Amino acid sequence: MKPNILNSLLLLFCLLTTCEAGPRINCYPEPNANQNLCETRGCIWNPVDDVDGTPWCYFKDGVGYNLASQNGTTFNLQKNNGPKNPWGIDFQNIQIRTSTIGGSVLNVKIGVDCRYEPPVDFPRSTIATSEILSFTTASSDDLFWFSVIRNSTNRKIFDTSLGGLIFSDQFIQLSTYLPSENMYGWGENAHQSLKHNFSRYLTWGMLARDQPPNSGNLDTMNLYGVHPFYMCLEPDGNAHGVFIFNSNPQEVTTAPGPSLIYRTIGGNLDIYFFPGPTPALVIQQYLAFIGKPFLPAYWALGYQLSRYGYSGLDEMKQRVGAVRDAGIPGSVPKSENWSGFEDYVNVMHGWNMKMIPIFDPAVEADYLPFQRAMAANAKFIEWEDYSQVQPNIQNLYPMAKNTKVMLGVVWPDHHVAFPDFLDSTGRTQAWWKTELELYHSQLSFDGIWIDMNEPANFGTNEQHPWYFDDADHPNDAPLFCPTNGTNRWDLPPYQTHAVYYYGGNENNVYLSSKTLCLAGVQNNGSYRFYDVKNLYGLKEAIPTQQALMECTGKRGAVVSRSTFPSAGRYAGHWLGDNTARWEDLRTSVIGAQEFNLFGIPYVGSDVCGFLGTSNEELCLRWQQMGAFHSFFRNHNTLGEPAQDPAVWPSVAAATKTANLFRYQYLPYLFSLHFQASQSGLTVVRPVFFEYPTDTETLDLGYQFMWGSNILVAPVLYQGAVTTNLYLPTDVWYSLFDYRYGSKIDSGYITVPSPTTSRIPVFVRGDAIPRQTPTTTTTMSRHNPFELLIAPCQLGKAVGVLYWDDGQSIVDSFDTHDFHQFDFNYISTSNGAQLTITRTRKGTIVLPTMDILEIFNYPSPPNFRSFFLNGQSVNINVQSSTYSGITKTLYISTKDLIDLTSSDSITLEWSNVSK
Ligand SMILES: *[C@@H]1O[C@H](CO)[C@@H](O)[C@H](O)[C@H]1NC(C)=O
Ligand SMILES: *[C@@H]1O[C@H](CO)[C@@H](O)[C@H](O)[C@H]1NC(C)=O
Ligand SMILES: *[C@@H]1O[C@H](CO)[C@@H](O)[C@H](O)[C@H]1NC(C)=O
Ligand SMILES: *[C@@H]1O[C@H](CO)[C@@H](O)[C@H](O)[C@H]1NC(C)=O
Ligand SMILES: *[C@@H]1O[C@H](CO)[C@@H](O)[C@H](O)[C@H]1NC(C)=O
Ligand SMILES: *[C@@H]1O[C@H](CO)[C@@H](O)[C@H](O)[C@H]1NC(C)=O
Repeated sequence: MKPNILNSLLLLFCLLTTCEAGPRINCYPEPNANQNLCETRGCIWNPVDDVDGTPWCYFKDGVGYNLASQNGTTFNLQKNNGPKNPWGIDFQNIQIRTSTIGGSVLNVKIGVDCRYEPPVDFPRSTIATSEILSFTTASSDDLFWFSVIRNSTNRKIFDTSLGGLIFSDQFIQLSTYLPSENMYGWGENAHQSLKHNFSRYLTWGMLARDQPPNSGNLDTMNLYGVHPFYMCLEPDGNAHGVFIFNSNPQEVTTAPGPSLIYRTIGGNLDIYFFPGPTPALVIQQYLAFIGKPFLPAYWALGYQLSRYGYSGLDEMKQRVGAVRDAGIPGSVPKSENWSGFEDYVNVMHGWNMKMIPIFDPAVEADYLPFQRAMAANAKFIEWEDYSQVQPNIQNLYPMAKNTKVMLGVVWPDHHVAFPDFLDSTGRTQAWWKTELELYHSQLSFDGIWIDMNEPANFGTNEQHPWYFDDADHPNDAPLFCPTNGTNRWDLPPYQTHAVYYYGGNENNVYLSSKTLCLAGVQNNGSYRFYDVKNLYGLKEAIPTQQALMECTGKRGAVVSRSTFPSAGRYAGHWLGDNTARWEDLRTSVIGAQEFNLFGIPYVGSDVCGFLGTSNEELCLRWQQMGAFHSFFRNHNTLGEPAQDPAVWPSVAAATKTANLFRYQYLPYLFSLHFQASQSGLTVVRPVFFEYPTDTETLDLGYQFMWGSNILVAPVLYQGAVTTNLYLPTDVWYSLFDYRYGSKIDSGYITVPSPTTSRIPVFVRGDAIPRQTPTTTTTMSRHNPFELLIAPCQLGKAVGVLYWDDGQSIVDSFDTHDFHQFDFNYISTSNGAQLTITRTRKGTIVLPTMDILEIFNYPSPPNFRSFFLNGQSVNINVQSSTYSGITKTLYISTKDLIDLTSSDSITLEWSNVSK
């Protein structure tokens, strides 16, 4: 930079006001920092007004490495003379290896050989793109840094000139500037806004823990799963994604700059950059790499009723009956096992209802499944050494007595063992499948819900755990981890936000809190629980999905509480034990969008709220919103009053309306899931995905798109009877009570949204397949198809329908039996034409398409002028209408179009001549 007057003035200004070169990199993230502790670390102590979370103790400049040598795309780095790492001995030599995968994905791997690598098999597929990301390096004053550049715009999308690269055995840090503040993702956390906020320093924990979200206020704690993935929209609207493939306890700080400081306590920094350039392409590229989501069974898109604490089968029958009597579409009640239940499940199957039981991974150490596991040589999470075993617990259980199995406490009355789903002999997975199959032979369930798989353990390291005061199992001795001495796994030098957020070890919080000891081992000692804990839910989901398919012969659906990248291949997710509060309704709207970014589109929240007492208005609004989430379940906790929709007549009525709308659009929702599984697209997606250059959409977290054509603006505030929302510039039509079918001006608008109305829903130019709804997904599937045509500017609309039998296992979309129909509509000055092209021929028999609803149809059609593939067809003029006021054309004729009659079908007609 040339010296000039401006720079000199800036320097003077900085000298006078202590400007800093960039964001501060925290040197004392642990609790209770003070000047003495800070300076002992060789860091700078400079207290400032704490409004934006600026760290008071921060690193001096120059932390990092210099470039020792380069060999092609390998860079050999050497610890420089800058400040040293307070949490371990800096590795003297590390390497950066870069490569381009499939011409599109840039991999930058920082670390050393022979360190732990997460045992996750990604497909690592790529999608061809013309966008190129390139890796460039630079250095000055003994400090090396690198950048990632998008060639087409020459934009730096990742820029580590911020410094602060640290690499030691149990502390690794990387920081970067970002090209914009428009960053989305990282998880699992409860985010108050879709877009991250870089006006302050915030550290987000990432360690899988049985931790219900707190949506009441901004809260950075770690929840059930770990997703080190973000998407960033550059200032010109190009999008890129970044995935850090690391499974250790970790955290990320979002800081002014905008910048990111990422820290993890094991493994390597194995970073993948996805070039986009559209948000949809970023996710497609990410999911091609980590694995695309499973296709849920059609019935799994139905409405589900669940609760923890039906007092018994009679109460459950009564609630299911009440919901059925209210005519509310629904198909999937859930419960835990009771006697007599098997018969009731068979009765429900007769009603086309399905059953999803809940399974926790841990098994009681004096229980038959454990005995069968031991006989089958299945493995459990173990202590490394016999000397670590707690004899007071182990000796209670003859079957566990002479083993190293780490015993803990969960819901069962006695101590439990945790299956080792990383068992490379496959015996544990085989035993697990046998257990599920055995259960299925007694109770013919249709899906599986796996819970408590962080894995959760009660009372770890607690002298007086909560369950001592509980009737269930008051006497089970809690698990104590080696936290008294210097255990490097349970007491690593840096313990991350998952510990420091809570005040640290002084408050008896450890990485092992609510889970097992991190010193544990898996796969006969080849994995350390410290490294693989975050993979537990993912690794349990794999054999669980296999077992479900094997014992039902169908694809069904699995939902899992704990997830990691690629979990969407095997399971969906619900957003955890939320609370019946308006704040939780709001964060669930954001959470579902984030999990679509993470490749888990079969996602939703516990509708009406799990913890706490729900109420009529909240439950009503939640039912209305949840009707747009793929996983749609009303779920309630123990001891709270019933909150199923039949409890309140107003909620029953609103739910019926919302569910009938959902059931009518199930062919569209199913087609979105089909595209997600086949191509890695999202189902529920942020509005900016469709309008990345419209800056008004960048933080529109409380609205969302359902696919690319339907926009939903749920009512999320108590007492609201109108909704303020933003419609990006486009041709929009109302799909709710207010001016249904009419064109709506784009921009910021306020629309009425009383509780008696559907929530605001809009459609933009497209053809959307739907079906006349009934009360179960199974029956709805037999009803005639319909096509909603909402033309865009030039009177055109296109759309697609995917259809299979709704339940067959998908081995490969190349061989899967399904239909694909493409719709192409155009209206001209004197008529209109709809072409349906069968682009994939399946063998499934489908209902006919009997109804076309066309918005913005310019003038009256001649109902006698309809031709189908050149043959005149009689339109039922009794049931078909045209309104010159709303400009809606509604054509309804029995058996109008047999979709499978030809590979190309054209329906055309002309208008009444003027
Ligand atoms: C550079 O890398 C190549 C390919 O990995 C290797 O064969 C060669 O020995 C390396 N050269 C040096 C000087 O390390
Ligand atoms: C991309 O840009 C970098 C420099 O920014 C250049 O070295 C590289 O050759 C470019 N790649 C291609 C394929 O154009
Ligand atoms: C971002 O955080 C700042 C500081 O806490 C706050 O004042 C501001 O309202 C936040 N912005 C948004 C959009 O939430
Ligand atoms: C279901 O519950 C009954 C009653 O508690 C119990 O006897 C039975 O063993 C349970 N069945 C299974 C498969 O767990
Ligand atoms: C750790 O210390 C606590 C109290 O200081 C003690 O009660 C506990 O037994 C100790 N645990 C172990 C594993 O030594
Ligand atoms: C388990 O590890 C022990 C000790 O390293 C080894 O002796 C044994 O052969 C291993 N067992 C299996 C089944 O790999």
